[in-house]
Amino acid sequence: MSEAIVEINYDDLIPNNIDLSNDARLKKALERWQPKFLEWWKEAGPDKTRDMEVYLRTAVGVDPKGWAKFGHVKMADYRWGILLAPQVEGRTIPFGKHKGEPVWQEVPGEYRALLRRLLVVQGDTEPASVEQQRYLSATAPSLYDMRNLFQVNVEEGRHLWAMVYLLVKYFGRDGREEAEGLLERRSADTDKPRILGAFNEETPSWLSFFMFTFFTDRDGKMQLEALAKSGFDPLSRTCRFMVTEEAHHMFVGETGVGRIIQRTCEAMRTASISDFSDIESVRALGVIDLPTLQKKVNFHASVTHDLFGNELSTNAATAFTAGIKGRFSETRQEDNHVLREDVYPVERVVDRQIVIEQEPALNALNSRLLDDFIKDASGGVKRWNKIISKCGIDFEINLPHKGFNRKIGIFSENHISPKGEVLSGDSWLGNRSEYLCSESDDTYIQSLMKACHEPGKYANWIAEPRIGIDNKPGDFEYVKIN
Ligand SMILES: [Fe+2]
Ligand SMILES: [Fe+2]
Repeated sequence: MSEAIVEINYDDLIPNNIDLSNDARLKKALERWQPKFLEWWKEAGPDKTRDMEVYLRTAVGVDPKGWAKFGHVKMADYRWGILLAPQVEGRTIPFGKHKGEPVWQEVPGEYRALLRRLLVVQGDTEPASVEQQRYLSATAPSLYDMRNLFQVNVEEGRHLWAMVYLLVKYFGRDGREEAEGLLERRSADTDKPRILGAFNEETPSWLSFFMFTFFTDRDGKMQLEALAKSGFDPLSRTCRFMVTEEAHHMFVGETGVGRIIQRTCEAMRTASISDFSDIESVRALGVIDLPTLQKKVNFHASVTHDLFGNELSTNAATAFTAGIKGRFSETRQEDNHVLREDVYPVERVVDRQIVIEQEPALNALNSRLLDDFIKDASGGVKRWNKIISKCGIDFEINLPHKGFNRKIGIFSENHISPKGEVLSGDSWLGNRSEYLCSESDDTYIQSLMKACHEPGKYANWIAEPRIGIDNKPGDFEYVKIN
């Protein structure tokens, strides 16, 4: 049973379904933060877009069957709301030492610091990705893609609101300070960088953007799914609704890369090139060769793997036992949800060999979440490979081994090839340009990034989508540039 679905009122200064008008203290704090957020959006959000009218989906409720409406919105007028999934009556804590107890509606004192840190780290990623994508619209390969970029951007902005709501409502003065901090750090800033590495990397091209949404937004999805199981009910409700929006980000990534692959394969077929390694001939067609796509996969997958943190982590064990952060598929697991006696297989390097060792399951929760991520991503890769094989080209894109190119975790001291071979530092470096893009690969990709802003037209290196957003026809003007 759940409470009635509340429609969102967009006449409110801060649209919401949390009955904000009856919480004067929270309302005041958020209204103070709002102008700073808008200032940040202007300064660090999508560049030169304020006059554009974009066909966006806006959340109007949280009913899974109809939570959004579509329409052209002037970017400068976009409104961010606070939305929580409905409260589930009688919900109990699904895991950890409090399993079976009623969920918390307030922050338990003993877990305050832990929760605050989790909210800040999650919250920090949301504005970071918007900053990373700030300049992409200038080189959008179509209006359709430009619209999708903005859709992702505004929703990441809303996800920041979601975390700020929790911080400000439940963490008093500390929470308000953290909310300010979230607007002060900047992606790749030398003095005040974003907290996690992948969010300080550049997103210089649309290929990077699609890979980012495929891999890095998927990390976001995994983290949110784990937090959606939380015994702290407001966090659970917040994350459940965020995950709903995240599905579109995965879609943008998977179909974006898929359309690039399709275009490359079609161009190769038309030109009767069957040898994928003939990079010069493929590039002469103005498309992105498959080996370069593989290198981008290697990069974005490995940088994203680092986001899962140390494979073996006592912090993760603490958060689980406390009932704060669960597993990806917690409610579908058929174990006791306490894991005190359980083990989990973890890969590591011993004597220059990758071996599997059984570790206490509680300590291995990050490792498990990473494995769940890899499984989730491999479905998309399979669909990419279908596009290639349908065109009769003998090439397969593979996810790199999880130990490849790691800066964090149990592989960070090792040199692992994408295939999972343990190498010496020298031979890894010697092969680096086979694993990751070289400067000339990047220069080539960058040379393709030119705007294609005519309705219904697409840049030469990417195929058009099979269906339009909201079933719109091919020449629909998703963005009125004005
Ligand atoms: Fe997000
Ligand atoms: Fe996202």
